[in-house]
Amino acid sequence: MRTEIRRTDASARDYYRLLTALVVPRPIAWVSSTSAEGIDNIAPHSFYTVASVEPPVIQFTSVGAKDTLRNVEEIGEFVVHLASEDLFEQVNATGTNFPPEISEFDAVGLTREPSLTVRPPRIREAAAALECRLHRIIPVGDCHLILGEVMQPPLRQACWTGAIRS
Ligand SMILES: Cc1cc2nc3c(=O)[nH]c(=O)nc-3n(C[C@H](O)[C@H](O)[C@H](O)COP(=O)(O)O)c2cc1C
Repeated sequence: MRTEIRRTDASARDYYRLLTALVVPRPIAWVSSTSAEGIDNIAPHSFYTVASVEPPVIQFTSVGAKDTLRNVEEIGEFVVHLASEDLFEQVNATGTNFPPEISEFDAVGLTREPSLTVRPPRIREAAAALECRLHRIIPVGDCHLILGEVMQPPLRQACWTGAIRS
């Protein structure tokens, strides 16, 4: 026996809950970006996947307009980090709605590490980082898909060896 949930029977909020409960597991893109004023931002995004192989493109979704989306529109660059289990608390803390003038690096106590190919810094505590140049932004309903071409993936040696072997 199945329950048919028609769109007209449920609120947008309930549909959001339904979709995020059914589309699992979702990896977390832990995204650093920089505003035109030079404030470094960090935020987790769970609507995240690989979009293309050649060129290597990844994508994440901004639900509504947030600092990350505005920074990516302004600067055209960002870095996506591996959100590993040991960083669970820091990842969640950066999901708090800090005002744009506050950097999550400073508020949460994470360390800036210069990127090689883009302006936003990497998060030193993360084991892997994907430096990205904006490929394009696609508006979808109340969301924006942000696609970025991966320029430079600095990884700890163990990540590289594990990824190549898998
Ligand atoms: C685990 C987790 C996953 C999240 N996934 C998303 C997501 O996919 N898209 C989104 O817009 N917000 C997502 N959020 C909420 C944002 O991280 C949150 O709104 C954040 O304050 C945005 O920061 P910003 O305004 O600095 O960009 C998530 C939060 C957490 C804790």
